[in-house]
Amino acid sequence: MTCRICQAPTTEILDLGSSPPANALTVTADEPQTSYPLVVEWCPSCGNVQLRDALSADVLYRDYLYTTPRSPTLDAHYDILISYLRMKEILNRGTSVVEIGSNVGHFLGRLSHEASRVLGVDPAREIADEANRSGIPTIAEFFDSVSARRILQDWGRADLIVARHCLAHNESPHEMLAAAALILAEGGHLLIENAYVVNTIENIEFDQIYHEHMFYYSVTSMSALLGQHGMRLVDAWLTPVHGGSIVFVASVDDGQTVSSRVDEFLTSEASILTASSFARFAGRSHTVRKDLRDLVVGLRRAGKRVYGYGASAKGNTLLNSSAISREHIPYTVDSTPMKQGRFLPGSRIEVIPEGSSHPAPDYYLLTAWNYEAEIIRKVRDGGNRATRFIVPIPSVRVV
Ligand code: TYD
Repeated sequence: MTCRICQAPTTEILDLGSSPPANALTVTADEPQTSYPLVVEWCPSCGNVQLRDALSADVLYRDYLYTTPRSPTLDAHYDILISYLRMKEILNRGTSVVEIGSNVGHFLGRLSHEASRVLGVDPAREIADEANRSGIPTIAEFFDSVSARRILQDWGRADLIVARHCLAHNESPHEMLAAAALILAEGGHLLIENAYVVNTIENIEFDQIYHEHMFYYSVTSMSALLGQHGMRLVDAWLTPVHGGSIVFVASVDDGQTVSSRVDEFLTSEASILTASSFARFAGRSHTVRKDLRDLVVGLRRAGKRVYGYGASAKGNTLLNSSAISREHIPYTVDSTPMKQGRFLPGSRIEVIPEGSSHPAPDYYLLTAWNYEAEIIRKVRDGGNRATRFIVPIPSVRVV
């Protein structure tokens, strides 16, 4: 097909079959659902890795249920981001901040103590309402040129735009960046955070592949993309959140110094983003799916009870692409009230609150493996010493 960043022809890397959108939990177990292909391709020309089939943002986000969990891991990450922005003098008491895809406003809540004013933009109506109720001004809109013009008129320019885990979540990052360019103040900055494709392929995180994740960025592809909008990548660094993410810092000002890290990334990516490493990734992903299915089916045959832990989006790719369903795993526990009582898309596994699985299962499949230490500690602190954990990524192991 065609690269959505530079329009060159792409090559297929991995086919995970078809799944319903990963966050489309259903109210009943037999509600009809449509599945769409999950095929990943890369562009040898600009290094972009993308989903072949993009779903419309309206299908994905208007009735979105994902709320950012309250988590010590994320709180620590927010502290690191804020310290960085202050140290680089990108953030001070005079800064106006707009966050795209601000969800319930946890990060903006922290930023509001450091900046002069904050504004959230998030298309999920219920989630934007929740943010407003908790005191974080949030408009329930897609961030595009139309809403950006309205922000410019009603609110003014932003010195800092934050786009965490959303620039990959839209068919047209061009639309989002053009809108960002409209409202950024002179000398303004853009902080973008997304899963880092090098981690995704090196750690065999094929479960990060679902319809919301339409792009898997690298410094190479992000530089190409930003360049098309008169922006320049000035820094990039890795963070462990969400199984390994990258923070990109871009500026509209040509005169800014560019960190030496940018060149270091470009050099290392040149040897990693290659046809042979993508082929290895596809092969190892297949092994994980097969091993996981064999293990879960074997445990069921031996009469063991296996539940899921974390109704994460990536868990749905993991389960559906491994052909594991409610026949094998009847329940998944999750702390998010909006997910509880619903059913996972595709596998139709019922979501129940944490701590409600009595008696505790023999095994939890850690579908939220990015919170491994935190979740195991929580289960053990709750007095459960017996349940074992199946950690699926990067290769299946039982702890
Ligand atoms: P998350 O890591 O945000 O991933 P994704 O982007 O793949 O959806 O999802 C983690 C899920 O795990 C989320 O639904 C909340 C849940 N969770 C718990 O149930 N208990 C916990 O202690 C933590 C940290 C998360």
